Amino acid sequence: MEATTSLLDAAAVGDLVLLDPLTENSLLHTLQERFRRSDIYTYIGNVVISVNPYRSLPIYTPEKVQEYHNCNFFAVKPHIYAIADDAYRSLRDRDRDQCILITGESGAGKTEASKLVMSYVAAVCSKGEEVDKVKEQLLQSNPVLEAFGNAKTVRNDNSSRFGKYMDVEFDFKGEPLGGVISNYLLEKSRIVRHVKGERNFHIFYQLLAGGSAQLLQQLKLRQDCRHYSYLNRESSGLPGMDDAANFRAMQDAMRVIGFSPTEVTALLEVTAVVLKLGNVQLSSNYQSSGMEACSIAEPQELQEICELIGLDPSMLERALCSRTVKARDEAVLTTLSVPQGYYGRDALAKNIYSRLFDWLVNRINTSIQVKPGKQRKVMGVLDIYGFEIFQDNGFEQFIINYCNEKLQQIFILMTLKEEQEEYVREGIQWTPVEFFDNSIICNLIENSKCGILAMLDEECLRPGVVNEDTFLTKLNQLFATHKHYESKETQNARHVMDASLPPQCFRIHHYAGKVTYNVTGFIEKNNDLLFRDLSQAMWAAQHTLLRSLFPEGDPQRVSLKLPPTAGFQFKASVATLMKNLYSKNPNYIRCIKPNETKTAMLFTPELVLAQIRYLGLMENVRVRRAGYAFRQLYGLFLERYKMLSPRTWPRWAGSDREGAKVLLAELAFPPEELAFGHTKIFIRSPHTLFDLERRRQERVAQLATLIQKTFRGWRCRTQYQLMRKSQIIISAWFRGHMQKNKYKQMKRSALIIQAYARGWKVRRAYRRYFRSGASARLANFIYRRLVQKFLVGLRRNLPPLSVMDRTWPPTPYKFLAAANQELRSIFYRWKCKKYREQLTPQRRALLQAKLCASELFKDKKTLYSKSLQQPFQGEYLGLTQNPKYQKLHAVAKDKLVMADTVRKVNRANGKTVPRLLLLTTEHLVLADPKAAQPKTVLSLSDIRSVSVTRFSDGLLALHLKETSTGGAKGDFLLVSDHLIELITRLHQTLMDATAQALPLHIADQFSTRFQKGDMAVTVVESAKAGSNIPICKKRGSHKMEVLVH
Ligand SMILES: Nc1ncnc2c1ncn2[C@@H]1O[C@H](COP(=O)(O)OP(=O)(O)OP(=O)(O)O)[C@@H](O)[C@H]1O
Ligand SMILES: [Mg+2]
Repeated sequence: MEATTSLLDAAAVGDLVLLDPLTENSLLHTLQERFRRSDIYTYIGNVVISVNPYRSLPIYTPEKVQEYHNCNFFAVKPHIYAIADDAYRSLRDRDRDQCILITGESGAGKTEASKLVMSYVAAVCSKGEEVDKVKEQLLQSNPVLEAFGNAKTVRNDNSSRFGKYMDVEFDFKGEPLGGVISNYLLEKSRIVRHVKGERNFHIFYQLLAGGSAQLLQQLKLRQDCRHYSYLNRESSGLPGMDDAANFRAMQDAMRVIGFSPTEVTALLEVTAVVLKLGNVQLSSNYQSSGMEACSIAEPQELQEICELIGLDPSMLERALCSRTVKARDEAVLTTLSVPQGYYGRDALAKNIYSRLFDWLVNRINTSIQVKPGKQRKVMGVLDIYGFEIFQDNGFEQFIINYCNEKLQQIFILMTLKEEQEEYVREGIQWTPVEFFDNSIICNLIENSKCGILAMLDEECLRPGVVNEDTFLTKLNQLFATHKHYESKETQNARHVMDASLPPQCFRIHHYAGKVTYNVTGFIEKNNDLLFRDLSQAMWAAQHTLLRSLFPEGDPQRVSLKLPPTAGFQFKASVATLMKNLYSKNPNYIRCIKPNETKTAMLFTPELVLAQIRYLGLMENVRVRRAGYAFRQLYGLFLERYKMLSPRTWPRWAGSDREGAKVLLAELAFPPEELAFGHTKIFIRSPHTLFDLERRRQERVAQLATLIQKTFRGWRCRTQYQLMRKSQIIISAWFRGHMQKNKYKQMKRSALIIQAYARGWKVRRAYRRYFRSGASARLANFIYRRLVQKFLVGLRRNLPPLSVMDRTWPPTPYKFLAAANQELRSIFYRWKCKKYREQLTPQRRALLQAKLCASELFKDKKTLYSKSLQQPFQGEYLGLTQNPKYQKLHAVAKDKLVMADTVRKVNRANGKTVPRLLLLTTEHLVLADPKAAQPKTVLSLSDIRSVSVTRFSDGLLALHLKETSTGGAKGDFLLVSDHLIELITRLHQTLMDATAQALPLHIADQFSTRFQKGDMAVTVVESAKAGSNIPICKKRGSHKMEVLVH
């Protein structure tokens, strides 16, 4: 908003095209008003006018860089950054090489402007380690070149004394790759001479002020400037310039660019040599021949120079004081006069320095050059010495002003002439604008047949007496009637009296003013000759750098051909430069110097008006106002903007012109904004162009999205198709693999089936050959084999032979279960048999008795289980051993079955008395234990039956037959400790004797027959009874209760 206001502010319009009314005065006032407001930049369309403020303004900050980055040229306040941005974007986005032409007179601010452009481009282009290094190297070339190529002049404290054109090269993304610097004619005469109030090149002062004591000693220099005659023996003081700091900055810059310390030292050594050469003094003396000759007045300086460059002092002395002249193949050494000697010395100093400067530029180029083969876009920045008019103008000013004249010509051609011609050519309605065309002046200087430079060359090459007078005479003859040429002679011819034009001078009416040039020195400077002795001496030095500067000093390479003159070289290089500039899109920065005194913010209207005039700003505005801001070939235009209309996008089938028409008709711009030429479209105001560009950018963004979308879709589709293809391949392989496996399996199965079938067929065919019943035999064999295995296994696993052990291995096969069981019982029985066989007859009898007891009592009488543990001894009394029982022994004799003590229950009272009981094979004898006399002898046949209780007592009722003899007293009730054994033995004996079993009653009640009648005995289990002896209680005469335990 601010910018637009500024552009339209009537008192100080930002774009002079909008000036109303357009007069020289209004234009001047606008510039003055803007200058007063510190707006030093003003536009004429896209040309920037910059008025030097001579003070630093806060408009170059990083924030400002951001503000102008990608800005709309006309939407922001006029600024040099805006043009730099426009050029950079045009280069990056439209692929058009750019050149930035900075013109203006000396001190107008060209160098500053070029640095601002460079720093802006460096700031906005992308960042990165490599890119930053390139940027730094490009930017740092300035301090180095300024130190060696700039000097204080009366017009500018930091005046460029050489022309510089720098091509910055970018890649397709707009990243800087490197650059190339071209330099144009250094004002080397300054080395040996400069007017009072000016200075020599900065480097000398910087070196002396900033060099350390050690460095100065190494270079054999003194710190005091006044010591050096080339520095006019003046002190260096220059307000606002810190030479020492600048020296350090220059050294840093060299390091950044990539100078090695050795190179820096060599460079400074050669610089010191130049400085010291000025102090080499010559004196005249007379030779024996009477001829005047010169010699070194004070050898000290020469000595030091030779030490620095590694040269024999006498050689340099000879080269400085004499000259070898070749005459008819003979070399003759002639001595030089003192002025000739000084001339040679100065020529040497100038040559060393200017060649050193060329080397410096080449060295920088080596560091910043871009590798060949890369495609690049180029932005050229031209900062050349400005137009200058001094009190005394020599050859250098002539050259400098010629160069400025050429630049003005470019401007005129591109902005005024060319533009207007183009309108006519394109058939656009046009009212011509008058302007001054300076090609007449350019022609005056550079015409290859009769231009001033050609005349000068002719004079230089002409044999015979050659001096400036003849040169001037020639010019006077040639240009007697030329409108832009004047001299005393032509004035006289026209009867013009002008005291300001001295006789040795000619005057040219340059586009920027009239300049009077003194022809003195023109021929010498144009020839730029250096005595061969001096170049040979330099080549002979051991100093590598110095030696390399004088290749022609090599005696092997002696050439008689004269080198091209300085004017010729300069003209050629300017022609190349012009060609280069014409090939690029120009951007103009026109610098204006507001005052002659370098005063901050001082605006001298007369001075500025003069510049407005000669810069042709009025014409520029007029053409601009009447003309069109933009033009382009229809083809290119359509190509760039065709996406703005669906009719032209993506392709237009008709002619380009028609396409552009259709496109613009659709965009509905006002008709006065557009003009359709024969081959180009013209757009009047930049606003329309910016509008067009804005729409394009929006559309491009949409298209980019579309392309992205399509691309993503395509990528996904391709990816999908690829995946699908892969999937099909994988599944095909997998299916194949599956089928193969299946087939293999089927094949295997088929083979097996086949084999079986074949086997079956063969078997069927050959069945009759088989032995019948083979399967039965086989089965039998297998069966037997199993049985055998079972039996063998059984043999190995037979259980222990103890009869108590009943274990038996389980059956391995079901069909053997019954056999196994059978075997088990057989084995057990066999074990028992074996056991039995090893028994003694006694033991067998005992076991039979035990067996019999078991049959009789098992599970019937409680006492039985207790008796199991007790062995049947039979003889408990020890009849044989005890002599007391001798009588009883005799009774029993060999027939004794059992002898024991029993208790007899008294039938009358139930009390028990002990009795000895003997059982023989025929009798049962009861005897008194004391007398050992048989009391009762019962024949076994008398025993009717026996009754015992169910309990664990030893009571027994021995029932006797009524008829027996022994039974007269009735039945006996006895109590035995070995009841079980007694009854068992009784039973056995009875069986043996009568073959009849003993009737045994096991009951709780039984009846006994006593002498006094029957007695019912009831047996009751009671704890009152003793453990062995039952308690018999008579209950009346016929009942007895026996308590047993
Ligand atoms: N934009 C600016 N802001 C502040 N000071 C400036 C600006 N431009 C130029 N100057 C001042 O003007 C002086 C001269 O500028 P500069 O050296 O750029 O002139 P020039 O046109 O290159 O002159 P010459 O043709 O002699 O080389 C600078 O040293 C600086 O002090
Ligand atoms: Mg400059």
